[in-house]
Amino acid sequence: MTMILAIESSCDETACAVVRDGNQILSNIVSSQINVHTLYGGVVPEVASRIHVENISAVVAEALQKADVTMDDIDAVAYTQGPGLIGSLHVGVQAAKTIAWAFGKPLVPVNHMCGHIYANSFVADLKFPLMALVISGGHTELVYMKNDWDFKVIGTTRDDAVGEAYDKVARILGLGYPGGPVIDKLAREGKEHYKLPVPKVQGEYDFSFSGLKTAVLQLIQREEKKGEEINKADLVYCFQETALNDMTAKTVKAVEAYRPKMLVLAGGVAANSRLRELMKEKMAACPETELVLPPLYCCTDNAAMIGSAGYAAYRHGLFGNLGDAADPGLEMPSND
Ligand code: KG4
Ligand code: ZN
Repeated sequence: MTMILAIESSCDETACAVVRDGNQILSNIVSSQINVHTLYGGVVPEVASRIHVENISAVVAEALQKADVTMDDIDAVAYTQGPGLIGSLHVGVQAAKTIAWAFGKPLVPVNHMCGHIYANSFVADLKFPLMALVISGGHTELVYMKNDWDFKVIGTTRDDAVGEAYDKVARILGLGYPGGPVIDKLAREGKEHYKLPVPKVQGEYDFSFSGLKTAVLQLIQREEKKGEEINKADLVYCFQETALNDMTAKTVKAVEAYRPKMLVLAGGVAANSRLRELMKEKMAACPETELVLPPLYCCTDNAAMIGSAGYAAYRHGLFGNLGDAADPGLEMPSND
C-alpha cells in the first residue's frame, strides 16, 4: 500500500489530497478562489498567489484529518511543479518541500496535465496504449501514451486553449467567469441561427480557437451595426458546435489512426455536457476503443489527480529534491 499526500496550486484552486495506491481517494480538499476572481472577470495572478498563501496550511491539515491519517502514514509528497501561474505554483511547491523536509519524505514533482490524465484512474483501470484529449483553460492537447507514464503530444493548439476560448467568448458576451459552465448551460437553449467559420490549421491533429473567438466578436459588431439584437443563446450554441465538432472530429481521426485501447477525456472542459454527447456519438464508430468520460469532480483542478499521477511517477522512481523549483512552462515528460 502506498499513500501519497498531493498538493495542487497551479491556478486558482488551493488543493490537497491523500490518495492510496493511485486510485483511492481518502480525502480531496479543494479551496476555490472563484468568487474572488469572478469580481475581476478572470484570474488575477497576484491575488491568486496571496490567497494560496493564506489557505495552504489549512487545506493540507484538513486533507490529513479527513483521510484520518498522520504524516507517519504518508509515503511521499507529490506536488504540481507546472505548468501554471508562477506565483501560484510557488506556494504549493514550497509547501510540499517544507513538509517533505520536515517529515523526511520523498518528493514527487508532477506535471499538471499528467495529473488531469491520471484523474481517470479513479473511475477506470487505465489501459495502454491510451489516447487522452486534455482540454483546460491553458491547454488543448491530444496525448498518445503507448505505455504507463509515456507521453507523446500528437496534437496541440496553435493559439488559444479551448477553455480560454470559452472564457473569452463569455467575457465578450458579459456572461461572467468562468465561461465554460455558463456557455454549456446557455447553449442548451440555443438553436442553429448564426454561422461561424470552422477553425483552420495545418497540423493533422492540431487545433486553433483564436480565429473563432475573433469571429464571434466580429459577428456581434456586424449585428450591432445593423441594429440587430444578439441572441446570446444562439451565438454560444454556434460557437460551441463549431469548436466541439472540430475537436471531436480530430480526436476520432487520431483514434482511428493510432487504435488505442482507451480514449480518456481530461481537464476542465471535459466537464462539458455537449462534448460528452458528441464524443459518445462519434466514438460509436470505434467500438474497439473504450471511451472514459470522467465524472465532473475528476475534470476540474484538484489534488487527487496529482496524487494519482504522483503514484505512477513514484512507481517509476521519478523523485525530485529540495532544489527543484516551480516551472510555469513545464512540458509533458516525453520518452522521445
Ligand atoms: O482544468 P481546469 O479546471 O483548469 C486549468 O487547468 O485550466 O479548467 C478550467 C477551464 C476553464 O476555461 C473553464 O471555463 C473550463 O475549464 N470549463 C468548461 C466547463 N467547465 C469548466 N468548459 C466548457 N464546459 C464546461 N462545462
Ligand atoms: Zn487544470
